[in-house]
Amino acid sequence: MSDPRAAEHRDHLSKAGFETRAIHAGWEPDPSTGAVIPPIYATSTYKQDGVGGLRGGYEYSRSANPTRAALESTLAALENGERGFAFASGLAAEDTLVRALCRPGDHAVIPDDAYGGTFRLFDKVERVWGLEYSSAPVSDVDAVRAAVRPGQTKLVWVETPTNPLLTIGDIEALAGIAHEAGALLIVDNTFASPYLQQPLTLGADVVVHSTTKYAGGHSDVVGGALVVRDLDLAERIGFHQNSMGAVAGPFDAWLTLRGLKTLALRMERHCDNAERIVDLLVSHPAVSEVIYPGLPEHPGHDVAARQMRRFGGMISFRHADGAEAALRFCERTRVFTLGESLGGVESLVEHPGQMTHASVAGTDLEVPDDLVRLSVGIESLPDQVADIEQALA
Ligand SMILES: Cc1ncc(COP(=O)(O)O)c(C=O)c1O
Repeated sequence: MSDPRAAEHRDHLSKAGFETRAIHAGWEPDPSTGAVIPPIYATSTYKQDGVGGLRGGYEYSRSANPTRAALESTLAALENGERGFAFASGLAAEDTLVRALCRPGDHAVIPDDAYGGTFRLFDKVERVWGLEYSSAPVSDVDAVRAAVRPGQTKLVWVETPTNPLLTIGDIEALAGIAHEAGALLIVDNTFASPYLQQPLTLGADVVVHSTTKYAGGHSDVVGGALVVRDLDLAERIGFHQNSMGAVAGPFDAWLTLRGLKTLALRMERHCDNAERIVDLLVSHPAVSEVIYPGLPEHPGHDVAARQMRRFGGMISFRHADGAEAALRFCERTRVFTLGESLGGVESLVEHPGQMTHASVAGTDLEVPDDLVRLSVGIESLPDQVADIEQALA
């Protein structure tokens, strides 16, 4: 932002509510045109006023682009961070982070339940590069402590809630364990979104997002993000973002920014609808187990209630009639579209064992074959309920 009132604007917004920040942070109406929304700056380069005479610091769009900068500032404002970084995908953000913070010979602790692609990144890419890893349940602080190798462990990486088993990790306690050992706590906040949970305020060092999900919210863009508070960390990540180059393009950044403006409203409706669908599943004879952190019997319920505003729009359940019945359920729904991904306005259903988590088959991270994962969208609740009922019948 080149406007001289930018600092004042930023300071004012830092005290504003979530929805105000989602709509106003990161961009002030353009001083020359008054454009209320950041334009899609489809430019690779910028005219210099004499060699090195950059306007607003812009030189080349891998290094910085105004549309991406608006998104990065908005993400930082929503996560209560100092700096945000936007990438071409969640996995691009993860790879950039790992290689910014680790060196061959280092070690990371990862969740024993995690997005299959994250596991594949650690197991098939970072391990070959020289990074060792161990897995531990994010809900068991003693197990995470035991997995940490002081001096060698550089990252304690958690998802909370995890994908797809919705396990909850106590962010504050995990930050303590990581910091005691000289490591950093990385929290993948994709499932909660910054509206429901802000890990940096609980002691995490880096927040990771697949902005493809709730942040974008409309299943029309793939993207990723990192947010940090510490400026030295920001410097290292920024250097690697530019050096590795897996940045979000301006069109993608613009779509994600548009999505973020309605995040709070969407999350409230995702949560409302998910709670009602949980009620239905809990009492249905074709369902043997419902996994949702909002249920008092969920082992992570108390921690989730402490660190999340609400319990989210993701539900997993186990079909009482086994794997074949779980697959048939996924094929029978109509309002819930069978597909990978989550967090969009439309409801999605998937079979993790054969879809998003096929890459963890045969490992510690394998998921039950009768498991179904629902991403509850914001369609009319009676239509969602009728759809689940007919698919379970
Ligand atoms: C929790 C979580 N983290 C990271 C990712 C990876 O993000 P992307 O698909 O945008 O690369 C995903 C994708 O499903 C995810 O669910």
